[in-house]
Amino acid sequence: MEIIKEPSALRELAGQWTRQGRTVGFVPTMGYLHAGHESLMHLARGRAETVVASVFVNPTQFGPGEDLDAYPRDLDRDAAMAKAAGVDVLFAPSPEAMYEPAAATWVEVPTLARHLCGASRPTHFRGVCTVVSKLFLLVRPALAVFGQKDWQQLAILRRMNADLGFGVEIVGGPIVREADGLALSSRNVRLTPEERGQAPGINQGLALAEAMVRDGEADAGRILDAVRAHYAAHVPLGEIDYLSCVDPDSLETLETIDRPALFATAVRFSAVRLIDNRLAATVSR
Ligand code: PAJ
Repeated sequence: MEIIKEPSALRELAGQWTRQGRTVGFVPTMGYLHAGHESLMHLARGRAETVVASVFVNPTQFGPGEDLDAYPRDLDRDAAMAKAAGVDVLFAPSPEAMYEPAAATWVEVPTLARHLCGASRPTHFRGVCTVVSKLFLLVRPALAVFGQKDWQQLAILRRMNADLGFGVEIVGGPIVREADGLALSSRNVRLTPEERGQAPGINQGLALAEAMVRDGEADAGRILDAVRAHYAAHVPLGEIDYLSCVDPDSLETLETIDRPALFATAVRFSAVRLIDNRLAATVSR
């Protein structure tokens, strides 16, 4: 596996792959890799001749007062994991290499970005869209793999890819969880032991919502009340940033569950904010 730090070197190599007609699969990450990232790398490995992964803690997607400086980083460990997962090229640029000092261009999908995470992180998704656009232009992949853990991010990037005509096949990978159900996240290492003990309750609450839908409950408000009660009892150290039932494509609020519904939440602990979601499908009876 080759590690590339300079965007110009990656652009050069990607040009060669294009001329050779090679299928390139791409997995963008912010590093501190875990089995969730690895699963996306395996998906890319199974579908592309050349696999590129990136590790870049993108400053433009962090708001003022967010955890940019505290975000965990370990490039040596990431490189070993990426290599073992079959990555051919790991791109790990510096912020200075990725952004011009006078950078003034943004890529935005405001209609989808205002919901869920965008309500409390108003500049987050334009940072994501801008960096992913820049990465797509450098790597020119045939396909790119993103996790359903960040459902809203995936929906926004699908829209962006279609609207700007990148022509990348966007592949969504399922959420990888710990044995106790907590969704894997690079940020989990920043939970206190007590918070870590309560954090699986986040997924349990969403699973409760899914079970209520399966049992025929169609009133989203009643379901969300039950999940809130679960969080109050089992995740008292977590403060709910949002807990919503939305249409999985438009991300608009759903009040009546007459189609597949996404239950999504963000819960704030002392040092980290965790997100999770589950898709609930009505069973025709
Ligand atoms: P990061 O949080 O490092 O996540 C990189 C990719 O891994 C994303 O597509 C995310 O959805 C996926 N992922 C994270 N945890 C997962 C889990 N438990 N199961 C499955 N997939 C999981 O998302 C970002 O970085 C950034 O916003 C990025 C797209 C790289 C742009 O900077």
